[in-house]
Amino acid sequence: LRVAVIGGGTSCEHDVSLSSAAAAGAALTEAGHEVVPLTIDRDGGWLDQGGEAIGLSGAVAVLRDCHVAVPMLHGPGGEDGTLAALCDLADVPYVGSALGAGAIAMDKWVTKLVAEAIGVPTAPGTLVTRATADQVSFTHPVVVKPVAAGSSHGVSMVREASELAPALDAAFAVDDRVLVEDVVEGREIDLAVLGRPDGSRTVPPALEIVVPESGIFDLDSKYDGSAVFRIPPPMSEADREALERAAIAVYDAVGCAGVARVDFFLTADGPVLNEVNTIPGFTEHSQVPRMFAAAGTSYPELLDIMVREATS
Ligand code: DAL
Ligand code: MG
Repeated sequence: LRVAVIGGGTSCEHDVSLSSAAAAGAALTEAGHEVVPLTIDRDGGWLDQGGEAIGLSGAVAVLRDCHVAVPMLHGPGGEDGTLAALCDLADVPYVGSALGAGAIAMDKWVTKLVAEAIGVPTAPGTLVTRATADQVSFTHPVVVKPVAAGSSHGVSMVREASELAPALDAAFAVDDRVLVEDVVEGREIDLAVLGRPDGSRTVPPALEIVVPESGIFDLDSKYDGSAVFRIPPPMSEADREALERAAIAVYDAVGCAGVARVDFFLTADGPVLNEVNTIPGFTEHSQVPRMFAAAGTSYPELLDIMVREATS
């Protein structure tokens, strides 16, 4: 197939996205496909594979000349459904979630409402705007995070009252809506879900992020290699089943398609949803490819399945 792989973007995850796109492009080439890279620069301009600015209409022309598109943009301006919508308008099949699921999953507050409505617990939390920020009070540690962001940008842990104002400032620098959530005591466990054309869902073994000494899986530990993954994590059969059931339930309630990564905290009372990523990190060493590798599906095989099933 002729596959357009789209990377970059205007969000703070630009560089991560370039890594995901480069790795996916190489694997698709290895799987025998013809890869056509497209890049969105930090200002939103579209570049062709030679780095020439081609504008939106030029990008649409390139997309329409391909059998399928692989959006690898993390964060707002891509993962939030905008790229899926562009592909829909251009009438180009694409890998992964459509506009609705992308938009819901990018909104951590709406995701929480959806999960709670189907009985999947999330951390107790409140939505704060600049108009209500002075009403925030807390009795035990909270996490302050922008409603729409990825890769932990603008996220802070607040243990003492003096830390609250800087944490809110950091979050409001990224988004106008901010979540203040109780810290959940639990192990960080990610699940990948792949929706198949026949309606079944493939869930490879879960992955545990063994948190480094800094105590939080933050931007540095995410990408400097200090985070350790454990696949599959040691856990009871009951916990494993509860995580899989919750991951599929959330995937379906949000309306995901293709591969999504559903992140949980595993607590003494069972799984608590953290977030849904409709375009998760996709380098060969990222969580999703590692989980599929543990199930016996190599990285090029996974991408081959994704593009074939998106066009079937
Ligand atoms: N937002 C990053 C890319 C991830 O969740 O993997
Ligand atoms: Mg994320």
